Amino acid sequence: MSKNIVILFGSPRIDGNTDKLTAAFIEGAESAGNAVTMFRVADMAIGGCRGCHHCFVEKGVCIQKDDMPLILDALRKADIMVMASPLYFFGVTAQLKLAVDRTFALLSEERPTKRAALLMTAGRGGVEACEGAVAMYNRMCRHSNWDAAGVVIAGGLQGKDDILGRPELEQARALGREI
Ligand SMILES: Cc1cc2nc3c(=O)[nH]c(=O)nc-3n(C[C@H](O)[C@H](O)[C@H](O)COP(=O)(O)O)c2cc1C
Repeated sequence: MSKNIVILFGSPRIDGNTDKLTAAFIEGAESAGNAVTMFRVADMAIGGCRGCHHCFVEKGVCIQKDDMPLILDALRKADIMVMASPLYFFGVTAQLKLAVDRTFALLSEERPTKRAALLMTAGRGGVEACEGAVAMYNRMCRHSNWDAAGVVIAGGLQGKDDILGRPELEQARALGREI
């Protein structure tokens, strides 16, 4: 059955390695009949969560007036949430983390989301250096009762095209097809 997939894309570098890995995932997901919406969070106006709990009192409405409602509305309808990010100092990018923190506004809502996946690229640290980001993803899945559907990490990448020809592209395509 066709699923509604929302990707929070955290790389600020257009057409870089994470972009190419995510494009492969999208290709697979769309070839299987799924609908994919991707948000380039680094190009959006998204402030950091202020921890004011206004969204709890006002039922999902954040006190900040920025681009985040676009993402929240899409996540309210998402069967699957995917995070895609390069590794920045052993975590996802700050831009992606800002968006993730702001999903606090959805915590008290019933949502259709059942699964999540993680796509990452890294430099010299490789797959091992991503353990913190992977732990965050796994804990998010447990916390939200989502099936942790898959992680694809490509390490050893610096230049924008370094991922070309790497097997992780096919892994991401397959994950998109099968998710
Ligand atoms: C600010 C910054 C921090 C980074 N931190 C790490 C790191 O901690 N470990 C690592 O292996 N690579 C690190 N990298 C390398 C990137 O994760 C890697 O080159 C990635 O493929 C870039 O993705 P992109 O092509 O989508 O920009 C860092 C790069 C930048 C710009």
